[in-house]
Amino acid sequence: MIHYNPNTRTFNLLGQHSHYAMLVDGDGRLLHLAWGPTPNPVTGHNRFAPPGQSSFEFQGQRDELPAYGPISVHEVALKVSFPNPPTALKPGDTLNRPIRDVRLAYTGYEIEENGQLSMVNGQLPTAPSSLPNPQSAIRNPQSTLLRIFLHDPAQPLAVTLCYRLFPAHDVIERWCELTNTGPNPIRVEKLAFAALHLPPGSSEVTTVHGAWGAEFTTQRHVLPVGSFNIGHRSVQTGHAFNPFFLANRPGQATETSGPVYFGALAFSGAWLLTFEHQHSGDVRVFGGYNPFDFELILQPGQTHTTPAFVCGVSDEGWGGASRRLHTFTRDAVLPNDAPRPVLYNSWEATYFALSHEGQAALARKAAAIGVELFVVDDGWFGGRRSPLSGLGDWTVSPEVFPRGLQPLIEEVHALGMQFGLWFEPEMVNPDSDLYRQHPDWVLHFPGRPRTEARMQLVLDYGRAEVIDHIFNALDAILANHDIDFIKWDMNRNVTEPGSVTGKAIWRAHAAGVYGLMDRLRQKYPHLSLQSCSGGGGRVDLGILRRVDQVWTSDNTDALDRLRIQEGFSLAYPARIMEAWVTHEKNHQTGRVLDLATRFDVAMRGVLGIGSDLNALSDEELKAYASYIAFYKRFRHVVQDGDLYRLETLAEQGASTLLYVLPDQSEAVYSVAVHDHLIGRHRPPACLRGLNPQATYAIFDRHERAIAHLSGADLMAQGIPGDTYGPAGYSRTLHLKIGD
Ligand code: DGJ
Repeated sequence: MIHYNPNTRTFNLLGQHSHYAMLVDGDGRLLHLAWGPTPNPVTGHNRFAPPGQSSFEFQGQRDELPAYGPISVHEVALKVSFPNPPTALKPGDTLNRPIRDVRLAYTGYEIEENGQLSMVNGQLPTAPSSLPNPQSAIRNPQSTLLRIFLHDPAQPLAVTLCYRLFPAHDVIERWCELTNTGPNPIRVEKLAFAALHLPPGSSEVTTVHGAWGAEFTTQRHVLPVGSFNIGHRSVQTGHAFNPFFLANRPGQATETSGPVYFGALAFSGAWLLTFEHQHSGDVRVFGGYNPFDFELILQPGQTHTTPAFVCGVSDEGWGGASRRLHTFTRDAVLPNDAPRPVLYNSWEATYFALSHEGQAALARKAAAIGVELFVVDDGWFGGRRSPLSGLGDWTVSPEVFPRGLQPLIEEVHALGMQFGLWFEPEMVNPDSDLYRQHPDWVLHFPGRPRTEARMQLVLDYGRAEVIDHIFNALDAILANHDIDFIKWDMNRNVTEPGSVTGKAIWRAHAAGVYGLMDRLRQKYPHLSLQSCSGGGGRVDLGILRRVDQVWTSDNTDALDRLRIQEGFSLAYPARIMEAWVTHEKNHQTGRVLDLATRFDVAMRGVLGIGSDLNALSDEELKAYASYIAFYKRFRHVVQDGDLYRLETLAEQGASTLLYVLPDQSEAVYSVAVHDHLIGRHRPPACLRGLNPQATYAIFDRHERAIAHLSGADLMAQGIPGDTYGPAGYSRTLHLKIGD
């Protein structure tokens, strides 16, 4: 529920287990009042009184959107440069001392319930809302949208702060809309989608960092007083950091308890999260466009709508915060909730050595072991016989597939599987027909070198003709082939970002990718998409509105994956996390791990197989088939259940997970030991989230019920006998009430 009290001039956003409150003060400033894990409205008085009011400290006030103007020494969400004088510019006018001063004053609000305008400044509405709703593809309509209108009384700028509350999820999607109401262009120099004021002292933050093959490495630390930034300066989300955080007061949260605040950006361009810990104890989180090389020119009358900064709070520790983000992503972000199929990808089996016969032979074996989606990776098109050439030429290579691709697709379909194909639509190799025809279509600065990475350059998605060309090329393939799934890859960071859009390319590229994906999905509604950027380089709530799953990492070593998947699970649900079983001797790390460990770790997400099936014995193929059948019996629990991290690598050296269906009727238990110390006894992890009164039958891979225990016993003592094992020890069990 969202409510405005005209007497106290307070806004209250009440979730099922949370509150968020703001106050309009006597000067018309919109101030943050409170945020926390109880559903109680907050009235009138400023719970967090601003710190000292000395001439040096008066800037500590908690504006909902701190803007550069009255605030100059602390971090701000918005900085704008206005022409001086503000009257219509005449030719020859020089801009002297542009005014960098924004002061936002409250002018009114409106509330929209499930898409219908229900309140305007406390009155029932007389006309429909004039502003479009930017968050287009929301499946779950149970939300209320609050728009708070602010303007600068002296400058031509109107700002609308938007709060979409999902009460059942205790999540708020926040963004802002900026309108130039004057006669001249204005220059926005810094723009966060929202600023979050955490309760003072919430200085312990959890984020992830990484690199190719080592994504989602968890880091948790107490912020010193000062600023801490994570972000990326490219046109995709990046491997180095991921745009989400969890935060709490030090010592007051654990995996299972305590208030934890969280936020995640719905944006795949150049982004930045700034955590500002002030001397006063205030902690603020600014999430939005990376201000490095940033520029946004608003033409007269133009409105810019930012992407969203999703935020929320849970009283159930870091685990509870993750579950809120998972449920929200499943219910309100992802394009659909269909079960994700078991996939086979031939990349690690054949790399660029593709042929019809080779792929067909793999497909037959894949179908026989129970695979449901067969994906042909890089190398099927143009002159792409290696990473050196061909990117950009999206036509089936007659050298590789002399009879075309459709016969293979038909064979795959006849085997009862879906067919998927790899693309890298944002890239071009200099050795390609596309580049030879349009060398100016890549990001570059005229007369300057074009740095190649993986022998490729990035197309300028600021150009409409580039997007149209790529759409037509993909459309031609899709129109003539029965393709069910696209693996959408992106394999380099941007350098020399010269674009026809100027500095706007840091936003325009992501917008171009989104637009292209939306067009393809609209024309081919049955199509599923996977986001890949050299593994997990493009995972965020913006791309997740358009894709069904992501390639988590090119590193498929099961023990490395435990750490990668644990960090991933902090923010993202298992139903998008593709995880493959690959060769016994891992191609990335050279480590040898047994099949059980490889399956137990891969079955924690969307199971895929990447091994060379032709190199496996019949006995091994039988074992693969048995694991896949096991996974299919419980995948709905992994893909749709609530995740409990019972043990974490950081604390116990083991990763033990429990997925529980919301009605508690089924659960999946998965343990994998990463580090085992001789002589140390690792007691079984206690389960969580079960029905204490119910009796659960516990099944192994062979459908044997190994025990029957009550939920209460399992939550008090764990799985009997699951005490310790060497590094690599792993086990997956399926729990069901009533059998
Ligand atoms: C990087 C991806 O992460 C791999 O899975 C594979 O698709 C290669 N690109 C192909 O070039």
